[in-house]
Amino acid sequence: MKKVTKAVFPVAGMGTRFLPATKANPKEMLPIVDKPLIQYAVDEALAAGITELIFITGRTKRSIEDHFDKAYELETELEARGKKELLEIVRKTIPSHVNCIYIRQAEALGLGHAVLRAAPVVSEDEAFAVLLADDLLDNRGGEPVLKQMIDVYYYNRCSILGTMNVPREETSQYGIISVEEHAGASLRVKGIVEKPAPEKAPSTQAVVGRYILTPRIFDHLRAIQPGAGGELQLTDAIASMLKCEAVLAHQFEGVRYDCGSKLGYLQATVELGLHHPEIGKEFAAWLDGRSSRASGKKAGKA
Ligand code: G1P
Repeated sequence: MKKVTKAVFPVAGMGTRFLPATKANPKEMLPIVDKPLIQYAVDEALAAGITELIFITGRTKRSIEDHFDKAYELETELEARGKKELLEIVRKTIPSHVNCIYIRQAEALGLGHAVLRAAPVVSEDEAFAVLLADDLLDNRGGEPVLKQMIDVYYYNRCSILGTMNVPREETSQYGIISVEEHAGASLRVKGIVEKPAPEKAPSTQAVVGRYILTPRIFDHLRAIQPGAGGELQLTDAIASMLKCEAVLAHQFEGVRYDCGSKLGYLQATVELGLHHPEIGKEFAAWLDGRSSRASGKKAGKA
């Protein structure tokens, strides 16, 4: 049984929603507390047994490569100063048995176009994962979401989409599926459409940025035409693949933060800050004090 060992991270996007912070820095390198956003997705992949990380990258994304590379000068400096804990943190960014592959996406023609760039490094008989780092999926204490999905894949041997229910007024931000039937704990996907208006959405079950795809997806990606927003959409290739093979939706266990939006980014920062081993308690106390000070002010107590 061929294992899922490869994960694709499309990271070429411009991150315009975080300008000016993303003028010279990739949005994937924005920190949530003390780890860049991309490392949360990478850690989730590593916890699911992934050993080859394929980054679909672009201009101004050099710091992502540097982040996952060995940092000789920094390590030598920390070693000389006897900073063992920091040295350990720097060294374990990525385990030594894991490979990073960087592929440039010269033009930003959409998520489908980005995923297709990975075709030369994925064999014809292996399924692979796609993780969108904007979606930070936290399942502290339980199975990481990608691991949940890979287990569903091993059982069913077909493409798996990570999905969740969203408010109907938000369907135009997501790929939305329609469902044929329950297949155990998973849903069998009947159709999928990219960013439908609320009144046209076939359901409120949205795809978040986690996919396990069979390699046949590349044939469909090569055949599709530009879709929503004039871009080559992964969703459209999945819709085309549905005519030939089964696709399941896995309603994952865990909390999703939309770190592609300022609000979601702040929510993730607060929530992960509250659970941070080093500053969590102090931060919680500060937040408590802050809200009582604020309600005191409202009540006119100054
Ligand atoms: C992408 C996908 C969309 C999916 C979403 C999840 O959209 O195209 O189908 O639901 O990610 O975050 P984007 O947010 O990049 O516009």
